[in-house]
Amino acid sequence: MRIVFLGAPGSGKGTQSQRLIERHGIPQVSTGDLLRAHVRDGTALGRRAKVVMDAGKLVDDATILGMVRERLAQPDAARGFILDGFPRTIPQADGLNTLLADIGQPLDVAILFNVDDDKLIKRISGRRSCAHCGQVFNIHNLPPAGPGSRCTQCGEPLQLMQRPDDNEATVRHRLAVYNEQTRPLIDYYRARGLLREIDADAAVDAVTARVEQILAPAG
Ligand code: AP5
Repeated sequence: MRIVFLGAPGSGKGTQSQRLIERHGIPQVSTGDLLRAHVRDGTALGRRAKVVMDAGKLVDDATILGMVRERLAQPDAARGFILDGFPRTIPQADGLNTLLADIGQPLDVAILFNVDDDKLIKRISGRRSCAHCGQVFNIHNLPPAGPGSRCTQCGEPLQLMQRPDDNEATVRHRLAVYNEQTRPLIDYYRARGLLREIDADAAVDAVTARVEQILAPAG
C-alpha cells in the first residue's frame, strides 16, 4: 500500500501512521521527522531547515524531494509506505508522481484528515513527546503518567519535550501556510480519483477504524 496522509498540522497524521506501521508492516515516511533528525544531527540541511521550521514556514521543494527520494530507495519501503506531511505543495506532488513512476509504484490513496482549526490549536499546544524515543502524548487527552514515571513505549524515565514550533503563534502561521500552499492538493488528488476524506475529530481509536475502512479494499 502506498498512502498519502493529507491534513493540517495536528490533524492526527503522525498518530495514525504509528498505528498503521504496526498493523500493516509498512514504514511511516514523515518529512517533518526526517527534517528534525537533520536538526538533531546538526547537518548543514538541518541548520538551514531549523530556521524555516521554527518560523512555521515550508522548507524548499528541492530539499524535500531529494530527502524523500533517498528515503523511498531504502529496502523497507519496497512493500509500501505512508507519506505523512508530504507532499505539501503542488510541485512536491508533481515531483512525487515522477518519482513513483520511476520506481513503478503508483499511489493507492490520499486520505484527508478533517478537523476544525480551533481544535487543532488546542491539540498542538497540548502535544508533548518523550525526549528519548519521541512517543507522542497530549496533556489534554493523552496525558503522560505523573512525575517519576517511565515512558510507556521505551521504558526510560519520562522526560517530556515540546516542539519549538508548537507554540500558539507559530501554529496559527502553520495553519495559514497549510491553507495557502497545501489545501490545493485536495483538489489535485480529487481530480485524480485518489482522494478519500475522513472526519478526524473523534477519539484516536475511532479515527483508526475510519482509516482502516478506507484501506480495506486497497490492501
Ligand atoms: P510536521 O512534523 O510534518 O508537522 P505538521 O504537518 O505540522 O503536523 P504535526 O506533526 O503537527 O501534526 P500531526 O497531524 O502529525 O498530528 P499528531 O498525530 O502529532 O512538519 C513540521 C515542519 O517541518 C513544517 O512546519 C515545515 O517547516 C517542515 N516540513 C515538513 N514537511 C515538509 C514538506 N513536505 N515540505 C516543506 N516543509 C516541510 O497529533 C497532534 C496532537 O494531537 C498529539 O498530541 C496527539 O496526541 C493528539 N491527537 C492525535 N489524534 C487525536 C485525536 N483523534 N483526538 C485527540 N487528540 C489527538
